[in-house]
Amino acid sequence: MTSERQTYVYIQLPGTLNTVPAALLKVESLADGTFVGHFRYGDRYLERKDAIAFDPFQLPLGTNAQEFTKLKGIPGAVRDAGPDAWGRRVIEHKLERGSGDLEEIDYLLNGPQDGAGYLSFGSKLEPAASKRRYNRTHQLADLIAAAEAIEEGKRVPVQILEQLEPGTSMGGARPKATIEDGNRLWLGKFPEKSDRYNLQRVEYATLELARRCGISVCNARLQSVAKQDVLMLERFDREYADGGYLRFGLVSALTLLDCGDSHLDRERWSYLLLADQLRRWSERPDEDRIELFRRIVFNAAVTNNDDHPRNHAVLRTARGWRLTPAYDLVPVPLVSLERRDLAMTVGAYGRTASIYNLLSQCDRFGLTADAARKEIENIVAVVGTWRDHFRACGVSDKDIEYIAQAFLPECFFFEKPVESPGR
Ligand SMILES: Nc1ncnc2c1ncn2[C@@H]1O[C@H](COP(=O)(O)OP(=O)(O)OP(=O)(O)O)[C@@H](O)[C@H]1O
Ligand SMILES: [Mg+2]
Repeated sequence: MTSERQTYVYIQLPGTLNTVPAALLKVESLADGTFVGHFRYGDRYLERKDAIAFDPFQLPLGTNAQEFTKLKGIPGAVRDAGPDAWGRRVIEHKLERGSGDLEEIDYLLNGPQDGAGYLSFGSKLEPAASKRRYNRTHQLADLIAAAEAIEEGKRVPVQILEQLEPGTSMGGARPKATIEDGNRLWLGKFPEKSDRYNLQRVEYATLELARRCGISVCNARLQSVAKQDVLMLERFDREYADGGYLRFGLVSALTLLDCGDSHLDRERWSYLLLADQLRRWSERPDEDRIELFRRIVFNAAVTNNDDHPRNHAVLRTARGWRLTPAYDLVPVPLVSLERRDLAMTVGAYGRTASIYNLLSQCDRFGLTADAARKEIENIVAVVGTWRDHFRACGVSDKDIEYIAQAFLPECFFFEKPVESPGR
């Protein structure tokens, strides 16, 4: 038996506070457990002079219905506006349903309509009036408590769940919510009970270290809530305008690479392919490819091995698509000093996070070997100062020791692949 579900997709038109219906997405679920999505822009939307494509390559403007079979029938640029692991848990909690009972369309329709980028969803042709209600910093303690209760599977009162909702359509696995503070919107990342160290403070220090390396990083600050820290990241996909917030389109690297989260797609998880995609997406492809190279070097130097394609994205600015500022940079203290892998292919030797691999395909990023070496040297010089920098950011000595193995391990400096049996 097959069934079909659908959602309207709305867009907040760039440079305006005006949200309009733009497309209809129908998803058929087939008897064999697969899904086919049918996506079509609306005629009225297509008639607009200011109509824009959600994804200029995979969803060009046009009257033809387009079919999608990957990602359970959801086009990547649409899925990027929907919730991820954390937001899904909040929705399951709210609906009192298990993940097995819900389809992708349910997650799109039941999330708060303020996800990443400028798209939102609804079951009616016209979008519901925006509530424009945001959490403030004084509510953080309640929000952290609610997030903890959800983690522990406890029931959370409806009014607190509603409070927690804004921002839960943002991707990622860690608990977070959107907070308004000083005419800016922030993504607040919360502590989790199971954390072995103060992750928010370590992430903050790592973002600032990356900034010192010349990498473009989202604005970040820490907010103390009782004895805990919340990491506040200024949302780069929002900008205050009189009476509301402008929204900018956001498309993840997962969509640029036309792949999914599953291990079956791992061969497309590649910085080299991402650099190729930036050549056609980015309004400044040369700058963005060098910027991407710096981020890879930084990730290798601090063992940020959770650098999966949802941790990279492009943003639609007034002038065109650009790589977003960097986010979600966390050092992981692995034990091995002989070999470390990033999540995506780095060069001719796969995912290995060593200098020889970083240099092996540097031309794909528009860099000569000499220029790439200079980039690496600059980043190594700054990352070498990490202990003092982390101390200055208030990371405790205990946490510094805990993560120390992440920084500049021996294998980072290898100039040649190490022959080892079985590789
Ligand atoms: N400053 C920001 N402005 C706008 N969007 C952001 C910002 N930082 C992160 N995002 C978006 O929110 C998502 C979740 O953020 P982040 O990756 O930091 O969370 P996480 O829970 O640590 O993720 P993961 O599951 O990868 O560990 C990102 O994938 C990105 O789409
Ligand atoms: Mg992430």
